[in-house]
Amino acid sequence: MDALMASREFSFMTDYSACRKRSTDLCSHVEIEDLVVQPTPEVSPIKWHLAHTTWFFEELILAKHLKGYVRYNERYGELFNSYYNALGPHWIQSGRGTQSRPTVSEIIKYRNHVDKCIEILLNTSDINGEVYFLMELGINHEEQHQELMLMDIKYILSRNAVRANYYEGPIPTSKRSIQGWRRFGEGVYFVGNESPEFSFDNENPRHKTYLYPFEISSSLVTNGEYLEFLNSRAYSNPRFWLSLGWEWVQKNQIRNPLYWIRQEGAWLEFTLHGVRPIDLNSPVVHVSYFEADAFARWKDMRLPTEQEFEVFLGSESWPAVECEGTILHPVDPNAVRRQVWCWTKSPYVSYPNFESFQGALEEYNGKFMCNQFVLKGGCFATPEGHYRDSYRNFYLPEQRWIFSGIRLAKDPK
Ligand SMILES: [Fe+2]
Repeated sequence: MDALMASREFSFMTDYSACRKRSTDLCSHVEIEDLVVQPTPEVSPIKWHLAHTTWFFEELILAKHLKGYVRYNERYGELFNSYYNALGPHWIQSGRGTQSRPTVSEIIKYRNHVDKCIEILLNTSDINGEVYFLMELGINHEEQHQELMLMDIKYILSRNAVRANYYEGPIPTSKRSIQGWRRFGEGVYFVGNESPEFSFDNENPRHKTYLYPFEISSSLVTNGEYLEFLNSRAYSNPRFWLSLGWEWVQKNQIRNPLYWIRQEGAWLEFTLHGVRPIDLNSPVVHVSYFEADAFARWKDMRLPTEQEFEVFLGSESWPAVECEGTILHPVDPNAVRRQVWCWTKSPYVSYPNFESFQGALEEYNGKFMCNQFVLKGGCFATPEGHYRDSYRNFYLPEQRWIFSGIRLAKDPK
C-alpha cells in the first residue's frame, strides 16, 4: 500500500469512527423508549436508523469484501434493508415500529461488531477503489440518516401527551431579517457538482443551463411574515393554492406550520429545545411545498427554480456564523446556507446525461425521480462537512417534518 493509500485509510477510519459515534451521540439526549416508536409511517424508529446504517456497511462492504465474513444475523437483512430490491426483500416501512426485537442494546452490539470488522477490512493490504468509494458513500449515507434522526426525534417527542425537550440548551435571540434582493441577468450558467470530492450521483454531471433574468431574496421568510399570511386567512382561500395543495389543506385541516401551537391566544412552536413562543424574526420552518408555493403566490412572487437557487448560492460567500454551543433551531434569516432547506419549484428529475451509481446502488437516488420537489441550501441539522451547494434534497409536496422553509424569487418587472 503506498503512502497515499495509507493516509486515505487512516482518514477513513477516523472519519468512519467519528461518523458512527455521532449517530449514537444523537441518542444521548433522549430515553430508550424514545428510540423505539413509530408514530406515523414516514417517521422511522430511531433504533431502526442505527441498525439500517450498520446494515448498509455490512451488506455493501463486508459481505462482499471481507474474506470469510458471515452476516451478524440473517434476519437483519430483511428488517434493515430500506428499499433496495436488488438486495432482497425488505420490511414494509410503515411496519418498522411493530418490532420490539432486536432491542436497542442488541442493535448497539450489532453496530460494534460491524465497526470491528470494518476496521479489520481497512487494515488489510488488498482493499480496492470500490471499497474506498463504498466507505465514502456509507459515511455520507449515515450522515443523511443523522439529519433524519433529528427530524424523527422531533416528531416523536412532539406527539407525546407529556412533552419532552430534546435539548435543554437555550435558543439565542434570532437576528433581524435584512430584506433585499439579488438580481441575476439572462444567460448560460453552470450547475451541478464540480468538486472531485464525494458527491451523490443525482448532483452530476455539471452542465449548462439557460436562465432568464431573476431576482432572489437575500433573506429567508420569517415566522412574522408567515403569520401575516396566516392572519390574512390564506389557509381558507383556494385562490392561493395549487389544486392538490387545496385538497391537502381541506382533507387534513391544515391551518398552520407543522409544529405551531395555538394556546390562550398566542402562537407557540414545538422545537428540539422544547415549546417556545414563536420568534417573529426566525425563519419559518416545517412548511410543505404546497404551503411554500401558496405563500409565494400570496406575496405575488414565486419559488425559485433549483438552477436559480444554485446560481444564487454560488454567488454568495459562506456567511460568518457565531457558534454558541449547539443550536438545534433556525435563528438567522440572513444566513445563506444551513438554516432551513428551501423548497424550489423544480420537480426532482435527472440532469442531462445522468448516470446512476452502479449495481444495487442504482436504486439510491434515481428511482425516486417522480412526484417530488427539490430543496436546496442545507439546514442546521445537516452534519458539518456533509453539505454542498450542488446538493439536491427531495421530498413529496405534502411532507413537512423536514426542516423546510422558504426563500422567495421573482421575475424583474
Ligand atoms: Fe438509508
